[in-house]
Amino acid sequence: MEKFIPVCEPTLAGNELQYVTEAVSTGWISSAGKYVTEFEKQFAHYCGCEYGVAVCNGTVALHLALAALGIGKGDEVIIPNFTMIATAFAVCYTGAIPVFVDADPDTWNIDVDQIEAKITSRTKAIIPVHLFGLMCDMDAIEAIAKRHHLYVLEDAAEAHGAEYKGRKAGSCSDLACFSFFANKNVTTGEGGMVVTNNKDLYDRLRYHKNMCFPLDGPRNYVHNDIGFNYRMSNVVAAIGLAQTERADEYKRMRMRNNALYRQYLSNVPGVRFQPLDDDYVDVAWMNAIVIDPQLYGRTKDELMAFLKENKVDTRLLFVGMHRQPCLRKFGADCSGNYPVSDFLTEHGFYLPSASSLSESDIRDICQLIVSFANA
Ligand SMILES: Cc1ncc(COP(=O)(O)O)c(C=O)c1O
Repeated sequence: MEKFIPVCEPTLAGNELQYVTEAVSTGWISSAGKYVTEFEKQFAHYCGCEYGVAVCNGTVALHLALAALGIGKGDEVIIPNFTMIATAFAVCYTGAIPVFVDADPDTWNIDVDQIEAKITSRTKAIIPVHLFGLMCDMDAIEAIAKRHHLYVLEDAAEAHGAEYKGRKAGSCSDLACFSFFANKNVTTGEGGMVVTNNKDLYDRLRYHKNMCFPLDGPRNYVHNDIGFNYRMSNVVAAIGLAQTERADEYKRMRMRNNALYRQYLSNVPGVRFQPLDDDYVDVAWMNAIVIDPQLYGRTKDELMAFLKENKVDTRLLFVGMHRQPCLRKFGADCSGNYPVSDFLTEHGFYLPSASSLSESDIRDICQLIVSFANA
């Protein structure tokens, strides 16, 4: 490679600078300001939701959402074993215990057939995580939740604009959380949002986000509940609004890149992507692949090292929740086997995935992968 290709970098190609400049030049740099409300409104609508509550990052979005649902000590929350640690941390922040379900070997998302075996009288909610931009089987999850009277909270941190049977990520549950970290399809550098169609939950989110100041009435500095300061600033929201204006364009760019990777690697034995399915719009946040060393002739570690030597940046996939010392110390049950999750950790990694990647970048990366195969 002539130049270094990072695993991901933001695309800031719209009104970001104009809106940020406006926020700074008018002095509206705190969380009071028109960009926060406009970003909340437009991003929520983008997700097929009525209400949005902007916060500082995706991790606190999850914590705020769980708090708004009243989840706390003594409760259990079901999460996928194969996820980013933030999903589990947010449950721990509330005092509830995260309970793990292995990944589905095809989709890599939570295995819906294994959820019911993990439900107890203490279970209060399920958090499906739409991994790498592919949504979970929400019909199956909704049916389980209904049978057992559980809340569903989508962790849609990686799935801006993704769809399941015509429904947008974020609109298929009681509450849904997004991250706007710099590598996300829609970014504010650091940032997050909770979206919902439920007015009561919306009010509770706003209340807890802002120190439990009363939503209406005088600011007399008397607080009835313990709240958080999870507010997003107007400067950050200015970037978010500009990004939301182009969300569909960025989604198309990621999907096009994913289609190119699939095309150029289609004949390479032992390279596998998440499945494509007509019921789903997979927004390909990251181009995650798994390598079968028998078929490819090299391990994923060898391939990652080779790509690095050739100036192509890659990243490991997550390590399962059952292997996290912090969760064991917290009291989560980390016994049991999670073979699919372990398989993904052992054999998977991300290829460069920025929206702005060019076709020639992708072709060159794929040529390296083809040339290194030792089948
Ligand atoms: C599935 C998932 N949940 C939650 C988060 C946390 O978001 P943030 O990094 O904005 O706190 C991430 C971040 O990448 C994520 O991938």
